[in-house]
Amino acid sequence: MAAYPTKRLRRLRYSPLVRDMVCETVLSKNDFIYPLFVVPGKNIKKEVSSMPGNYHMSVDVLVKECKDIQSLGIPAVILFGIPDHKDELGSGAYDPDGIIQQAVRAIKKEVKDLLVMTDVCLCEYTSHGHCGVLNGEEILNDETVELLVKEAVSHAEAGADIIAPSDMMDGRIGAIRKALDAKGFYKIPVLSYAAKYASGYYGPFREAAESTPAFGDRKSHQMDPRNTNEAMREIEDDIEEGADIIMVKPAGPYLDVIYRAKQKFGLPTAAYQVSGEFAMIKAAGRNGWIDEERVMIESLTGIKRAGADMILTYFAKDAARYLDRTKK
Ligand code: PBG
Ligand code: ZN
Repeated sequence: MAAYPTKRLRRLRYSPLVRDMVCETVLSKNDFIYPLFVVPGKNIKKEVSSMPGNYHMSVDVLVKECKDIQSLGIPAVILFGIPDHKDELGSGAYDPDGIIQQAVRAIKKEVKDLLVMTDVCLCEYTSHGHCGVLNGEEILNDETVELLVKEAVSHAEAGADIIAPSDMMDGRIGAIRKALDAKGFYKIPVLSYAAKYASGYYGPFREAAESTPAFGDRKSHQMDPRNTNEAMREIEDDIEEGADIIMVKPAGPYLDVIYRAKQKFGLPTAAYQVSGEFAMIKAAGRNGWIDEERVMIESLTGIKRAGADMILTYFAKDAARYLDRTKK
């Protein structure tokens, strides 16, 4: 084996063309899934203050936004709904005329060639902000799964292309798969939020989705940040129950989990660069403390390098424009 001075690792770094030729990780617009927040009403476009460049949009505005997203070359969006009415059982989540169902129907009708994913959980729809049915302060698993199944089926009936359960109840993937199949939606893939951690990085999202729990936290169903073996068990379970795509969330602080999941299971693997990860980069960039664009690309590249095949990110539009501009 040659050693220095015969061997010089810098030879492959002297020019940009050589650097591009030997680069190991390629970020592509095809990898991006853009999260969107839909609200009732008309002609509404209101910025979420902790997530600059992201908005609450009514369905009419959302449809226009989706056309822009599609023409930027981003292949997919994931929808989150803020209903006009919340109750104990989150009934807005499985209302055939609910906010997500209306949004999906409108996008599928008006926008060609855009994958529409829907997030399946109850926390945006419950008056208490919890992800499921309560008995006192306990979140009941099996009763919640029944409602999640109704929600998933109603999203598919509205025309959703991919169903993404984010609740972390036990057994929900199997139950949703079975119900979708029974209703003839055997072609609709399930993207499971399989290893979703109880994370402080969801703060800005909870403002955006108005889903902060009225008391307590989500630690009885979302995962403990200290665990990775358990994440492998969660993912294995969801795969056995029929998940087509698995997801790790958040992304940046959990790159080891993404890496391990991809190595172990080899399934299409998604990662969610969540609201707090986005907000921190934006805020530091706005303060002039970091170069926002550079850190945006570096953070997304890191997630891809760890093994993610697709990335849910609030930077999708900015990153797509960057990739166009730099012809990457
Ligand atoms: C719903 C849900 C959450 C996120 C996605 N789906 C919030 C939560 O679990 O509290 C967070 C996304 C983000 O922070 O960007 N369960
Ligand atoms: Zn939830």
